[in-house]
Amino acid sequence: MKPVYYRLENSWNPNGGPNGEFTFTLFNLSDETLSGFKLVYTSLTRVIDAAACGNSTFLRRNANFHEFGPPAGLSVAPGESWTFTVAGLHRKAQHCTDGAKSAYLTLSSGKHVPVAVSDLLLEGATSEPPPVLLPEGRLDLPFALQPWPAEIDAKPGDDFPVVLYPQGASSEELSSISTVISLTRRLFESDHSVFNLVPSPQGRALTFSKDAALDAEAYKLTFAADRVTLTYSGAAGRQYGLTTLAQLLNGARVTKGKFRFPISGTISDKPRYGWRGCHLDVSRQFYPVADVKRLIDILAWFKLNIFHWHLTDDEAWRLEIKAYSQLTTTGVLRGPDEPLLPQLGNGAEPVGGFYSQDDIRDIVAHAGALNVEVVPEIDIPGHNAATLIALPDLTDGQEAPDSYHSVQGYPNNALNPAVALTYEFLEKVFDEMVELFPSAYIHIGGDEVANGSWLASPMAKKLMEEEGITNGTFGLQSYFLKKVKAMLTARGRKLSGWNEVSHGGGVASEDTLLMAWENPQVGIELAKEGYDVVMTPGQAYYLDMVQATAFQEPGASWAGTVPPAHTYAYEAAGEFPEELQHKLKGVQACIWSEHFLSRGYFNRLVFPRLPAIAEAAWTPKALKDWDRFAAIVPLSPKL
Ligand code: ACM
Repeated sequence: MKPVYYRLENSWNPNGGPNGEFTFTLFNLSDETLSGFKLVYTSLTRVIDAAACGNSTFLRRNANFHEFGPPAGLSVAPGESWTFTVAGLHRKAQHCTDGAKSAYLTLSSGKHVPVAVSDLLLEGATSEPPPVLLPEGRLDLPFALQPWPAEIDAKPGDDFPVVLYPQGASSEELSSISTVISLTRRLFESDHSVFNLVPSPQGRALTFSKDAALDAEAYKLTFAADRVTLTYSGAAGRQYGLTTLAQLLNGARVTKGKFRFPISGTISDKPRYGWRGCHLDVSRQFYPVADVKRLIDILAWFKLNIFHWHLTDDEAWRLEIKAYSQLTTTGVLRGPDEPLLPQLGNGAEPVGGFYSQDDIRDIVAHAGALNVEVVPEIDIPGHNAATLIALPDLTDGQEAPDSYHSVQGYPNNALNPAVALTYEFLEKVFDEMVELFPSAYIHIGGDEVANGSWLASPMAKKLMEEEGITNGTFGLQSYFLKKVKAMLTARGRKLSGWNEVSHGGGVASEDTLLMAWENPQVGIELAKEGYDVVMTPGQAYYLDMVQATAFQEPGASWAGTVPPAHTYAYEAAGEFPEELQHKLKGVQACIWSEHFLSRGYFNRLVFPRLPAIAEAAWTPKALKDWDRFAAIVPLSPKL
């Protein structure tokens, strides 16, 4: 790692202005005097009033990229520092991750050099002790199962088999065991294998039985001293039965005594919901193929069956489209001298990253072998700053710049429904996507189009007149999304999107599944309008939300504080009227990655809330038990 010769410290004073004030201090730890430089930092707490900055000059901002100059003539000698203040913030800082996420200097030579940053300190307060988020828990039955099964009536044995081995298995059954052996070995690399294809004298035989009356995802396990029988009807149920055995034996082995393996009895299991999802935002931060596959492994371990892959956003378009190679060149590279500026933890070095079509096929096959369906998302029409920088022909050249801003602070970032090329572009993108992704649904985003978008576009104004669209931005959005829906229907796919797809007239509800993220009530409204619904409310299922109120807790807080106990207790079906229950297709965790600058942040926030959602997706309400969950979840694999 290269040495870093500069460090930026930052703190926030709640009393410094309407939304408080940052104090930044840049230390020069190099052996040369600094002068004629500029400082860039990225921060989700944005400056909106350039005049409210002290001992510095605000130069420019793009979303969370901020550039400042020192006062005229200032130089910083080795060992010295420069302190400046920044008020005029668009909101208060609430947590330690709300300050500078990264920084760099542009020297007078034009060279960019890295600056180390620390988490944001709160002025005038001492740190509180870290909150206890997970109690020790309690076990009524000593089985390491997560999610907890629908029915269990099994007696723990005093000992456990060294290994389980198949007897009389078909080649498909052998292959399914092999898949679960590999899964378990990837997740718990140094632990002993749970299954062995060769019989072992200290092992226990595993026999299979088929029962067409079971649902495809259901299974039954019957335990006896000399054998275990797995009954199933489909590949998914067979895999879930084997995963249950792997969890039981692995738990009994690694925490001997606390967890045990059944000697008799049965487990009869099936999921509560058909859609058991987890989303990952790979635009704000890039996750290499190996990390994506490991996350999918973790989903399979917890019997989740949907990987919702958020492939595009303002910060980058990560999906290779052969017809538009610019999307994954210009559209991914963020750097000081690139069209896309550094954001969300980027510094002096340009960073990119995308998934080639070979990578995609590899990941889709990996997931498919584990009965996880990959639902790809391209987020349109909003959240397209990167797309429009890569493909400027998609803009209305007559639209005033900065005529609207997204909630994340991006100017003019939505695909324009009045530009004919927009539809040509999307037709080609969908053509390539349907070749890559076999999923029933394609997710098209549809969220957070800023009210006022396109209203300064002469082409959009003309379209509104021609089409008789009188309800502004959302009327245009509905016009656009109806065309998108038709494109998907023509390709034999169904439309999935975020809850705002319903705005301004929405799209036909048939074969449309919307994700209620803004709050739980929205899900019920969507169901009333006839849409199928998956519940992903930020207040319970957004895994980037902070887990406690203390300032030093990392994460976002716009949807509140979401401790694991709350995520676990939340009931998606809670307020759904009886007659709308059939519209509720399932639940989903969302991993938005603005704050996930490292694996450390990822694991700290995603676990144990991801397994909590997996249990909500699978286990009947009457069997949910926070104390049991807390006792088992420390065994969870992490990224
Ligand atoms: C979202 O969180 N904008 C779907």
